[in-house]
Amino acid sequence: MAEIKRRVIVTGGLGFIGSYFVDLLLKNGYHVINIDKMTYAARHDLNFDAHPEYELIREDIATLRYLPQNADYLVNFAAESHVDNAITSNGLFFESNIRGVYNLLELIRSKDPNDRPTLIHISTDEVYGEIQEGFSAKENDQLHPENPYSAAKAAAEMLISGWVKTYGLKAKICRSSNNYGHGQYPEKLISKTVNLATKNEKMTVHGDGSYLREWTYAGDNCEGIFLMMEKGLNGEIYNISSGEMFTNLEIVKMVLKAMGKPENLYEFVENRLGQDIRYSVDSSKSRKLGWKPKTSLEKYLPEYLKLLNYKNK
Ligand SMILES: NC(=O)c1ccc[n+]([C@@H]2O[C@H](COP(=O)([O-])OP(=O)(O)OC[C@H]3O[C@@H](n4cnc5c(N)ncnc54)[C@H](O)[C@@H]3O)[C@@H](O)[C@H]2O)c1
Repeated sequence: MAEIKRRVIVTGGLGFIGSYFVDLLLKNGYHVINIDKMTYAARHDLNFDAHPEYELIREDIATLRYLPQNADYLVNFAAESHVDNAITSNGLFFESNIRGVYNLLELIRSKDPNDRPTLIHISTDEVYGEIQEGFSAKENDQLHPENPYSAAKAAAEMLISGWVKTYGLKAKICRSSNNYGHGQYPEKLISKTVNLATKNEKMTVHGDGSYLREWTYAGDNCEGIFLMMEKGLNGEIYNISSGEMFTNLEIVKMVLKAMGKPENLYEFVENRLGQDIRYSVDSSKSRKLGWKPKTSLEKYLPEYLKLLNYKNK
């Protein structure tokens, strides 16, 4: 059996979910090399910068020319992640989310086969497209991406599948539902609501707000990714989701209530182009490997507000 070197390359480790994962790796005794382009979404409030087992390389995965040596895994979080941006300006999504993955695959392929890290690619429940009431997508279901973000994420998965079969690269894919937690750039539903409501400004809700999403705590998601990284099978795909489902409007109202704000501090705006009515994934495969979510959104919200030093007013 190959010796575990306990060195992991993480891409996008300054981002919201990636930063939780870097933290988890360091706590588990891994050496982490974080490759991040430092886009607007990168966090600047992290406390692992000075950790002796942490290195940061500021690079774009789409133009990166080399990969550090001796890593067991390359965990790819780096991506443009906001659907609204993908709709108004999709070019960067092609560069980072498709060309970036292509470049990583080629960099892994160019290595001596004994020094090729296993790729753990972070994908999304959005690749399945809209899921009808009463159903949850399983890993082998057909992909039906319906917006430029999910299309780019699905395209990256197709590339990985081709490189695994043709060139024998090792890879696993984790598809997770919407994440919540501390450190998310205030453009996504929960972080944006908190940011606007703090200034007593109205949150904008697309369409009639009835669109259903599953919500998973980023820390729970990262525990799942960690487990799949160490114990998941090569070539496999794993859905990761708490199963907690809310409409967008329910989320906004729940956040406003936790903040002690007026329950009508929101306004309906034009619906998002290509809006999917419902996402839902079946995560029983991950759960069979031993993963289970520990956090619920309603319980987490007060903790989140405390971390933001928010006081009800
Ligand atoms: N946020 C969610 O709810 C969610 C849900 C499912 C899947 N995902 C996926 O998880 C991953 C992380 O999402 P997030 O919300 O933490 O994203 P984020 O936008 O918060 O952070 C992305 C990070 O990647 C870096 N980055 C972006 N493009 C890069 C590039 N070309 N080269 C190197 N670094 C680059 C950014 O600087 C940033 O640090 C993404 O792949 C996303 O598609 C996110």
